[in-house]
Amino acid sequence: MRPADLSILFTWEERKPLLHEGMLCVPRNYDKHEKFDIPFSEIFENDNPICIEFCSGNGEWIARAATLYPEYNWIGVEKKFTRTRQIWSKKHNLGLKNLLPVCGMAEDFCSHYLKETRIEKAYVNFPDPWPKNSHAKNRIIQAPFIEMLTKVSKPGTTLTLVTDHQKYSEQMMKVMNSNERWQSDEDCILPEDYGTSYFNRLWLDLGKSIHYMKFSLQEVS
Ligand SMILES: C[S@@+](CC[C@H](N)C(=O)[O-])C[C@H]1O[C@@H](n2cnc3c(N)ncnc32)[C@H](O)[C@@H]1O
Repeated sequence: MRPADLSILFTWEERKPLLHEGMLCVPRNYDKHEKFDIPFSEIFENDNPICIEFCSGNGEWIARAATLYPEYNWIGVEKKFTRTRQIWSKKHNLGLKNLLPVCGMAEDFCSHYLKETRIEKAYVNFPDPWPKNSHAKNRIIQAPFIEMLTKVSKPGTTLTLVTDHQKYSEQMMKVMNSNERWQSDEDCILPEDYGTSYFNRLWLDLGKSIHYMKFSLQEVS
């Protein structure tokens, strides 16, 4: 199956949450997300714990993770349709029943679709850095997103953040440190078997350093 085998699923006017051939489309600027009520246990056909990667790009990292760790269900959330269908193509070509590509905004998915789910692990690998100061407000790692993520996490849930961008890594640390529920694993180093991605290789080839941060959710004190 090639990514191009999947055509755009609905027009802007007809947009609605739609599960199609193993991919979930989450419309933007939409106020009826609650219309989608298929539980994850039905989508994955099991109750295995859920891991999520936000900003998955072409899905290289998450497809490998889903292959290596079949005991988890994996959800890859990517806002661009052309990239999400690359994840969809990998899912079908590799026979990954435990991978759900989601085309939509991470914020929408997190606040409307996870509902009662308590995720096991969350990852954000190389989120868009928005390097200009005036654009930094568009970065995904900000307090409101972390609050949404906290609501769908449980004590012990981990959040891994990876970036090549020094200033963004400092902002990530600041945002996470300002939320007392998340504790930083100060000594963490990038595990050898972490996996790679298009942007990971791109930045390494340019000689950039990679910042790897890991946090875990604490019990309410
Ligand atoms: C720099 S790329 C990294 C892609 C991939 N993680 C990698 O390492 O190759 C960032 C990706 O995040 C997606 N993205 C940015 N903001 C998003 C959001 N709010 N929700 C979902 N995806 C988002 C972009 O479309 C892009 O594919």
